[in-house]
Amino acid sequence: QQLKAKLGTAANPGLSCKEIKDTVDQAQDGLYHLRSQEGIVYQTYCDMTTADGGWTLVSSVHENDIYGKCTTGDRWSSTRGSTTNYPEGDGNWANFYTFGSVQLATYDDLKNPGYFSINASDVMLWHVPNNTPLFQYKSAAYLRYYTTDGFLQQYGGSLYSLFKDHFPIVYNGGTGNGPAIPITWDNGNDDLLKSLLAPNVLSEATPGFVHFCVFNNEKAPHAVCPGLKYNGGNVEHACIGGAAYWAELAPRQCGDFAGKDWSGYGTHTGWSSSLLELESAILFFYR
Ligand code: G3P
Ligand code: CA
Repeated sequence: QQLKAKLGTAANPGLSCKEIKDTVDQAQDGLYHLRSQEGIVYQTYCDMTTADGGWTLVSSVHENDIYGKCTTGDRWSSTRGSTTNYPEGDGNWANFYTFGSVQLATYDDLKNPGYFSINASDVMLWHVPNNTPLFQYKSAAYLRYYTTDGFLQQYGGSLYSLFKDHFPIVYNGGTGNGPAIPITWDNGNDDLLKSLLAPNVLSEATPGFVHFCVFNNEKAPHAVCPGLKYNGGNVEHACIGGAAYWAELAPRQCGDFAGKDWSGYGTHTGWSSSLLELESAILFFYR
């Protein structure tokens, strides 16, 4: 009888880290081979320990140059300028485009086939300082949290389907704000998050959530508010990703991290977040 290679190896890629976790005894955090529903084989990082593990790294949002204002590297908003010509920006929240690589998730944006191919129930987010090497992602992540209510199943099982079919990221369009899902902290807490946000944001936001598709006062959508629910209209100082046009003093808020530098680069005054938050990538996992 032929022995089948261990699930999660190049010879037998898994569909998700969850499948590997459920199949392989004592699977550890680290790199595994996965295959998409189309048969594309890719490597990614699996967190096999947080809250029973089975978390697949599917994407990261990294700001390469907040002075760029919707230029190269702004794949989660617009790489083609500040414009209303493309109401969805680059559209990567809701398409099959992929980019980046697992070992560069804190050096540049990442989107692997798991983002649209895995059928998931929950998300986990890590805030990791830029340029952190792969095997330090977890230890360097000063904020780590996850959802537990299985919300993704209501929206098609992925962030791809949530944005594609339920809450399109479209300038001056879409269907209004998406859901705010409560989180469980694995590292950090509400107070640590508050201490890193722009001070003026505190009166407009409630920590302890991850909030999807949130429009600002000027009708610009933001894909994700990491760690918080946004109640007010100046969403651009705390939430990330979007389309291609932010009207307020355009193009100053255009880009993957929108207006996180509104009151100066990393000044942590007014509407500017701390330097640490400005210079960290947000990593997204599914389970
Ligand atoms: O998003 C902040 C903006 O709407 C107001 O900023 O600089 O006029 O206080 P400022
Ligand atoms: Ca504003």
